[in-house]
Amino acid sequence: MTMPVNYEEGLVPEYALPDPLVCADGTLVADAPTWRERRRPEILRLFEEHVYGRTPSADVDAVFEVWEKDTAALNGLATRKQIHARFHRTGQRMSMELLLYVPNHAPKPVPAFLGLNFRGNHSIHTDPDIMLSQAWVSDRYEGVEGNRATEAARGTVFHQWPVERVLGRGYALATAYYGDLDPDYDDGFRNGVHPLFYAPGQLVPAAGEWGAIGAWAWGLSRAMDYLVSDSEVDQGRVAVMGHSRLGKTSLWAGAQDERFALVISNDSGCGGAALSRRRFGETVERINTTFPHWFCGNFRRYSDRVDDLPVDQHMLIALMAPRPVYVACAQEYPWADPRGQFLSAYHASPVYRLLGESGLAADSMPGLHQPVMSRIGYHFRAGKHDVTNYDWDRFMDFADLHMGPG
Ligand code: GCU
Repeated sequence: MTMPVNYEEGLVPEYALPDPLVCADGTLVADAPTWRERRRPEILRLFEEHVYGRTPSADVDAVFEVWEKDTAALNGLATRKQIHARFHRTGQRMSMELLLYVPNHAPKPVPAFLGLNFRGNHSIHTDPDIMLSQAWVSDRYEGVEGNRATEAARGTVFHQWPVERVLGRGYALATAYYGDLDPDYDDGFRNGVHPLFYAPGQLVPAAGEWGAIGAWAWGLSRAMDYLVSDSEVDQGRVAVMGHSRLGKTSLWAGAQDERFALVISNDSGCGGAALSRRRFGETVERINTTFPHWFCGNFRRYSDRVDDLPVDQHMLIALMAPRPVYVACAQEYPWADPRGQFLSAYHASPVYRLLGESGLAADSMPGLHQPVMSRIGYHFRAGKHDVTNYDWDRFMDFADLHMGPG
């Protein structure tokens, strides 16, 4: 594969971004109703058609069963619930396991963070009562043998999920394994949720239909279906958070499902918060080559002509407006183009201002550890591609500010 990676600012080509406040027919968007009723749905359609693919709107039979509840989990700090979600449609079925910790000391209902995890719910904490995932998990992860999690996988990404820290600030934490929704390898969409929605005889999604990111985002909305039914969780204060490919996913979930009151992307990069037209770090061409199953078939048409895309990722951020959205980046991960992510947040701001909100309160990229906490938030921290306590502390500061503390 001869695709050199550009890490030099001076080699970023000139580009012109599509204007989120100009409709496809040239109409200027000058007021909130025109944004809401015309331009916002238009941009959402464009992302469906050209980037992530359409999420099916057909209903699915869903059953949520709270099969385990412990009111004295984590030494009495929290109530743990494990929820088995079953989905059934046209003779096909699949399921998702949701893990929820609700802080015991906090007044109910509490605000919550919801995010998908990479390795199974058991990987986020050493809590021995979390069910070990039965789903396919990549063998490259510690404690996984023959694509099945073993006890040795318990708590292996504990550092990315500081459960006690989150509970201590009065937030609930909910998570599900992304592989329950669609295992993350290119199998031609035979496993995961896609087959539930195939038309008779259909074997793969059409070019404008959803890929894996669409399936993961769908799962976040199904998890939200459960959370809105749980009286301990404040359904008006649920933040959706994701890291890396799952940060792309949290943005797409937040764009489609406005029940998410706040949206957080951590190091999401290309196809997430980073502007595609900058061609810095990972590019559309590269991501389509390495991860062809993440986006819709149509996205591949833009691999070598990204300037023809009718959208860029600042418009994805704009779809959150006027809700608060936070974009976090790391210095040692130029692959995700931290400046390109800043610029996305910056160029989404006119939409926020049109709706009477502040947008991003920074005209130039802030230095390390200078978080911007306006309606669009942003930080650039030292260190690697990861989710750290620094990141979580800022997410919670941001959530405290915009949703009210837990
Ligand atoms: C790869 C990919 C990124 C992605 C990341 C991750 O590095 O190129 O686009 O965000 O994996 O999800 O960890």
